[in-house]
Amino acid sequence: MLEMKTVSFDKPLLKGSLKVPGDKSISHRAIMLGSIAEGRTSISGFLDGEDCLRTIDIFEKLGVSIERHGTDVVVESPGIKRWTSPKEELYAGNSGTTARLMLGILSGSTVTSTLTGDDSLSKRPMKRVTTPLQSMGSSISGEEGSDYLPLTIVGSKLDGIDYSMPVASAQVKSAILFAGLNASGETVVREDAVSRDHTERMLKQFGAELQQEGNTVRIKGGQTLAATDVKVPGDISSAAFFMAAAAMVEGSEVEFIDVGLNPTRTGIIQVLRQMGAGVEILEKHGETGEPYGVVKVSHATLSGTEISGEIIPTLIDELPIIALMATQAAGKTIIKDAAELRVKETDRIAAVTDELTKLGAKVEATEDGMIIEGPTRLSGGELKSYGDHRIGMMAAVAALVSEGPIHIEDPSCIAISYPNFFDHLTRLVSAGIEE
Ligand code: S3P
Repeated sequence: MLEMKTVSFDKPLLKGSLKVPGDKSISHRAIMLGSIAEGRTSISGFLDGEDCLRTIDIFEKLGVSIERHGTDVVVESPGIKRWTSPKEELYAGNSGTTARLMLGILSGSTVTSTLTGDDSLSKRPMKRVTTPLQSMGSSISGEEGSDYLPLTIVGSKLDGIDYSMPVASAQVKSAILFAGLNASGETVVREDAVSRDHTERMLKQFGAELQQEGNTVRIKGGQTLAATDVKVPGDISSAAFFMAAAAMVEGSEVEFIDVGLNPTRTGIIQVLRQMGAGVEILEKHGETGEPYGVVKVSHATLSGTEISGEIIPTLIDELPIIALMATQAAGKTIIKDAAELRVKETDRIAAVTDELTKLGAKVEATEDGMIIEGPTRLSGGELKSYGDHRIGMMAAVAALVSEGPIHIEDPSCIAISYPNFFDHLTRLVSAGIEE
């Protein structure tokens, strides 16, 4: 039997400040680059969510020593050339980032290994990564034309490629760049719209040379990385749930401390502004590595908007919570060019449409997005998470704007990216209770 959790609020108000857990994408990459480099890498602000823990497990199986004290992590690696072939399979759990980036890293290593994942991950497409990697000379094999896990990777000598990506995906781009780091010659990756650039920024932090020109990245093979220290800012994709909550709930005002402000991730801030919410950037730091700062979000009457084109990769993970926000906005919100949502942890277009419709919202699924008409007073109801953390959090936040309680089926998946989500939700709302 799947666990159920009931979330209900009587006249909620969100007030105060919040430091969300570390960025998931940056936490994965810090472990990966720290393990590729020889020596000691200290990471602060690491996200101890389920997905990032799977990345740690995998590198431990390859012979890297990783010590974790809460959100401080120390990686001591012999370097990629001295990893050992694991005796067991490498289990990526629910984590697409772990699986896809590891395919690139393992391809250019000297080890032989088999990558596996949970049911959801085993249904997600891997060909987008295995096709370019195989054309670099990677030896990856599996059933069904190597489109799905489990996949066996025999570390091989690789050659650089010049690759134009058919989808804007940071996972694909990163897998190719990691393979390119250990390939002969130059590797060039071209994308139509810029996807998150954490890999590029962190490779530079670890001393690698790479060139970024418009939407093209070039890296020369045969470079060794130098271990360094990494500070992980708060995850804007996690903050987005409370940013949307503050924007929707009358009288609310929340300050987000040390939240990541990398321009390839801040589409949510632009959309909040487009919809009329109050957004102020109060501080900005870290311009040389990963930018972060303090952001204040406050309630305002929201209006519908159109979200399409180049902004999509900068807010792809925020679209479920944006869809909820759109149910509270006056007029139509049109989301287009987001077909990638169909191949996330679950089909997020179908999941968001089905679950919000259960609450009385007017949501229509399209092939590559959704059309939402608001504002609608939502009812309570029983919602499914589909084992997808971002659908689970959207359901919980819906309780702030619904007339009855929301019962969430299988909420434990929220620990994938935000282990203390419910504590933060309760704390922000109780801080808003006026005596
Ligand atoms: C991620 C990239 C995005 C995003 C995912 C994390 C990353 O996926 O949805 O949650 O860390 O590179 P795609 O690259 O498939 O768009």
